[in-house]
Amino acid sequence: MPDATLRVFRGDRDGGGPVDYAVPVATGMVVLDALHYIQGHQSQDLAVRWNCKAGKCGSCSAEVNGRPRLTCKTRMDELPKDEPITVFPMKSFPLIKDLVTDVSWNYKVNKRIPPFTPRPGTKWKMYQNDIDRVQEFRKCIECFLCQNVCHVLRDHERQDQFAGPRFFVRVAGLEMHPLDGISRADLLKEDLGIGYCNITKCCTEVCPEDIHITDNAIIPLKERVVDEYYDPLRRLLVKLFGRKAG
Ligand code: SF4
Ligand code: SF4
Ligand code: FES
Repeated sequence: MPDATLRVFRGDRDGGGPVDYAVPVATGMVVLDALHYIQGHQSQDLAVRWNCKAGKCGSCSAEVNGRPRLTCKTRMDELPKDEPITVFPMKSFPLIKDLVTDVSWNYKVNKRIPPFTPRPGTKWKMYQNDIDRVQEFRKCIECFLCQNVCHVLRDHERQDQFAGPRFFVRVAGLEMHPLDGISRADLLKEDLGIGYCNITKCCTEVCPEDIHITDNAIIPLKERVVDEYYDPLRRLLVKLFGRKAG
């Protein structure tokens, strides 16, 4: 296979720009392999975050040819070689160095979400079909590619008012759990800003775990907010009994 040119962003918060590297391409190689080749042979100080190289730790997220992707799951033979392959850091998060961004904001958002809270007197026996719906949401590897692509965060920088699709997935996993007993409708509306989502589905398109973020998490949560927040009878019941609707 011929060499490929990787056009990799090099720099930090003070500035930087793309640098071209020629990389020999071997069969089965992924973009992360090419970055490791650059580290090993041409530029040992290239900063790249990764852990598993198996699509499971969510660390190696970057923008390859302008699309948010896991570099360890992006095969070199699927990318056009007649022009440089661009590898840039995720745009929605502050840059630390080269391809490494500061994603700590996400963990702060996560802390605002009340964890699983079983109903009083819960009977702990469950069957597979009870949890089929929420199992999809537990596949999330926290790669934050969905956060990176969402225009509310990427272009409008509403980090102070909008939690982002990853956290709607997390809330969906809690709200739809058959044994969870509290409502997070107020949190979704007031604190996590679900109303800012206009269902563009960009988040779903980039999710490496194929979670149907918009259809299965966000839309049902929006419906839940409407039910619990704007239906006065249901709202009263939630206030009285501290239970979620439906
Ligand atoms: S569907 Fe909503 S959360 Fe997903 S990218 Fe679009 S605006 Fe963001
Ligand atoms: S929902 Fe998908 S894209 Fe978003 S953080 Fe989880 S695995 Fe990544
Ligand atoms: S290195 Fe773990 S997901 Fe890519």
